[in-house]
Amino acid sequence: MLHRIFITGGAGFIGSHLAERFLKEGREVTVLDNLSTGRLSNVKALQALAPERFRFVEGCATEPNVVAPLVAESDAVVHLAAAVGVRLVVEQPIHTMRTNIGATETVLDAASAAGVPLLYASTSEVYGKSAMLPFTENADLVLGPTSIARWGYAASKATGEWMALAYGAERDLEVTIVRLFNTVGPRQLGRYGMVLPNFVKAALRGEPLRVFGDGQQTRCFAHVKDVTQVLGGLLDEPAARGSVFNVGNDVEVSILALAERVCAVAGSDSEIQLVPYAEAYGHGFEDMRRRVPSLAALEAALGYRPRTGLDEIIADLICVLA
Ligand SMILES: NC(=O)c1ccc[n+]([C@@H]2O[C@H](COP(=O)([O-])OP(=O)(O)OC[C@H]3O[C@@H](n4cnc5c(N)ncnc54)[C@H](O)[C@@H]3O)[C@@H](O)[C@H]2O)c1
Repeated sequence: MLHRIFITGGAGFIGSHLAERFLKEGREVTVLDNLSTGRLSNVKALQALAPERFRFVEGCATEPNVVAPLVAESDAVVHLAAAVGVRLVVEQPIHTMRTNIGATETVLDAASAAGVPLLYASTSEVYGKSAMLPFTENADLVLGPTSIARWGYAASKATGEWMALAYGAERDLEVTIVRLFNTVGPRQLGRYGMVLPNFVKAALRGEPLRVFGDGQQTRCFAHVKDVTQVLGGLLDEPAARGSVFNVGNDVEVSILALAERVCAVAGSDSEIQLVPYAEAYGHGFEDMRRRVPSLAALEAALGYRPRTGLDEIIADLICVLA
């Protein structure tokens, strides 16, 4: 098991859960985060958990002078720092592209120079509008036009994948790429357009649940505790290096059905409203209708996959948000 783990973006939602898992396994964790969407409260909880094995560095993952020494003293890197969330991506496209491509280049440079293996967090968004379901890692990626800001996120993450594989090919960097599908759980913030925390908060307050479009678009939701188990497993698995893995749950639910499920589990009589995409994100927004991963590669590599059910995920969120 790799012992000293460096996590960029470790004050965020997935990063803080991953850091917590590693600390509970007895590893040392260093987190670099600029707290743009991450939270100091996440850092403080990690500090309290294992003060002697946890270190937080507030700073930017695009800065080589900050990143390189932290990478060099680690046994492995998990690169999660990114501009994330549909709303943020649409409203701040320059920030999105610069952060996602710039930070990835900086971290790849440092990891290849130090000879440290790296896990890169990509996204299911890279499949874009592909209709080849379920999505397999070697399938074509079908992105929309450059005039539509949301595809900039997918393009920046796909560029990161190409960069990571290029560093593997040319500089022998041991890199594992994960395409995360919708990951949910405690600590996820709703304010950047994350659907489930927004639904749960609205249901608990008796406010309307705003479903964008006709609500028939589908997604698959995985609990963050399952996802971090997979990320830890892949990081420790040398045979996984050089490969791309879908990571998530493969149980499909429409967003309208999700809203209904949240109301049922929360015992809420909140109204469910259909809101046109243009009202939510401005004109020219595009969404994908279905997004379902094939988890065959992940199961072959690790022998397990995320499996917490939707009702349990919703109930867990209700517990922390109530
Ligand atoms: N949550 C999901 O469903 C999901 C799905 C697909 C991919 N991902 C990927 O997983 C990773 C983590 O996402 P998350 O959901 O935990 O989001 P998050 O916003 O909670 O985490 C991102 C973290 O990166 C930090 N960060 C951003 N720019 C930085 C910079 N320049 N320097 C240092 N830190 C910086 C933020 O402050 C935040 O703590 C991201 O790379 C994201 O693209 C997440």
